[in-house]
Amino acid sequence: MQTRRITKGDFDQIVSVIDRWWGAPAGTLAHPIFFYELGQHALVAEENGSMVGFLLGFITPELPPTGYVHLVGIHPEQRRHGVGRLLYEAFTRECVSAGCAMMKAIAPMGNEGSARFHAGVGWNVEEVQDYAGPGRARLVFTRSLAKGVS
Ligand SMILES: CC(C)(COP(=O)(O)OP(=O)(O)OC[C@H]1O[C@@H](n2cnc3c(N)ncnc32)[C@H](O)[C@@H]1OP(=O)(O)O)[C@@H](O)C(=O)NCCC(=O)NCCS
Repeated sequence: MQTRRITKGDFDQIVSVIDRWWGAPAGTLAHPIFFYELGQHALVAEENGSMVGFLLGFITPELPPTGYVHLVGIHPEQRRHGVGRLLYEAFTRECVSAGCAMMKAIAPMGNEGSARFHAGVGWNVEEVQDYAGPGRARLVFTRSLAKGVS
């Protein structure tokens, strides 16, 4: 298995599989801005030439920057095989190289899979009320890179 930079063909494939991979309509999450304008650090994982996972993430412009994971998705039949961990490790390396002080991601309340994954790869989690607007709490995941990557 390997990770590499996303292509337009990969983005098109993400759009075509995302509802199935999420088990519900999720196409709005794959906004094209995360390929065209913010896709410089976006990644796919592939095995034997097939996409088994993707990470739409970007590095924010402030100093020090933050590495932000907008969306990560793994093929339903490839979960718990370390694909998400591999993508996070690859993106984390890029964030360290770019001088990021921290990494961040969010998820809706109740996304237990995301919460367990982030805990499993060593990120902190906090419930933040009104994060996405009044009555719209979110799980906010963070990882400090201040001491580098272990
Ligand atoms: C969440 C998701 C990205 C995890 O990807 P994954 O490739 O299955 O995760 P990994 O195999 O790399 O897991 C790494 C560690 O996270 C933890 N973990 C991951 N999924 C878990 C689960 N469902 N239950 C418990 N622990 C879990 C484990 O500690 C695991 O390590 P281990 O397998 O050695 O015990 C994947 O399940 C997914 O695509 N879910 C649907 C989309 C989604 O919710 N995305 C996140 C919000 S945007």
